[in-house]
Amino acid sequence: MSHISNVFAREVLDSRGKPTVEVEVTCKNGVRGRAIVPSGASTGQAEALELRDKDCVRYDGQGVQRAVANVNQKLGPAVMGMDAVDQQAIDAILLQQDATPQKSALGGNALLGVSLATAHAAAASRQVPLYRHINHLVRSSCSNTDREPLRPAMPLPMTNMISGGLHAGGNLDFQDVLITPVSAPDYATCLEWIVRVYRRLGDLLTRAGYEGRLVGDEGGYGPRLKGNREAVEFVARAIEAAELRPGEDVTIALDVAATHFLQHDGSYRLITEQGTTLTSAAMIDRLEAWVDMFPITSIEDGLAEEDWAGWQALTQRLGDRIQLVGDDLFTTNEHRIVKGIELGVGNSVLIKVNQIGTLTEALRAITVAREAGYSLVVSARSGETEDTTIADLAVGVAAEQIKIGSIVRSERLAKYNQLLRISEDL
Ligand code: PGA
Ligand code: ZN
Repeated sequence: MSHISNVFAREVLDSRGKPTVEVEVTCKNGVRGRAIVPSGASTGQAEALELRDKDCVRYDGQGVQRAVANVNQKLGPAVMGMDAVDQQAIDAILLQQDATPQKSALGGNALLGVSLATAHAAAASRQVPLYRHINHLVRSSCSNTDREPLRPAMPLPMTNMISGGLHAGGNLDFQDVLITPVSAPDYATCLEWIVRVYRRLGDLLTRAGYEGRLVGDEGGYGPRLKGNREAVEFVARAIEAAELRPGEDVTIALDVAATHFLQHDGSYRLITEQGTTLTSAAMIDRLEAWVDMFPITSIEDGLAEEDWAGWQALTQRLGDRIQLVGDDLFTTNEHRIVKGIELGVGNSVLIKVNQIGTLTEALRAITVAREAGYSLVVSARSGETEDTTIADLAVGVAAEQIKIGSIVRSERLAKYNQLLRISEDL
């Protein structure tokens, strides 16, 4: 009896001390599922709306009591009695209740809390781990039935080493320099290598006179370096200092998050490089030069979210050499992904469930991307909690990579550690 008998939301706090929505879904069999909604800082324009109270007396207007009330008074009653196992039907009701393109009536944070808590309750009811339940859901959303059924698989971590942009007070223009331990034989080794590189990097930064211990929102170091390139140089040196081979054992990834330093005239202004402005074409030249120079195998949001022509040129230039990930560009939105596929833009999609607002829509985005041959990077937000849903999501949909942030701060480790448990299970 996995029919929903109660839905309850409360306001809790995330890793930045900002209120967020937690939802508990209880079924008639007594089983309960719980989920907490994450929150971004460098958000895309096309994302689902995060409903905040705007009541300045509480939490500087950042409270989510209205979203909580929308769950308790509207969304909960609407799904009452439905079977939690039928995620698509439940998400369809949530969408119907909101009935706006960006979930601006009830809040993407309200919808997603119910959607994810439902998945947890369904997995518990079916007595399977969440990643297996999600795998079952994504299989049923695949249109190509001739293919081998998709099996759960461990993703490679893409881990933040140096943080910049909106995540570390504007110390750098580019948002993240990350690493991926491509030749690690198993997941536990991935973690050991990542920690080793992270520690060596901290030592190198400290020895060079930077604060090699202060971290940004996602746990990456947040030093005030001389410029963006120095961040990549430090990470390349840290890989060597960890006695790993750059490019062979461990590769570098960038999240440029270029939308956030785009100017009104369409140029990109690099504040940490004496305000140098680059055209879209010059940004592409710059990124290509870095790919020639460093063991970079993945670049996310190398250009801004509406620079579709620039993205086409970028993809023509680098798309067969490296992974080009769309985050703000695609916002986990099936329609934007389809547009990207048609225009030949990018070759990889970042998946953040709260960008779209329901699990079913995220699984649709995943399916559309995969069927077009795009790789998948399941991602956390810069504002996170102890919730580990994305670890199960990444395994359940067999995403190639997972991007959780750095290897410190418990809201990040909760996911890395959940992946360790899952890897034993697999
Ligand atoms: P956000 O950052 O959660 O602040 O959007 C993560 C990212 O850009 O990948
Ligand atoms: Zn990003």
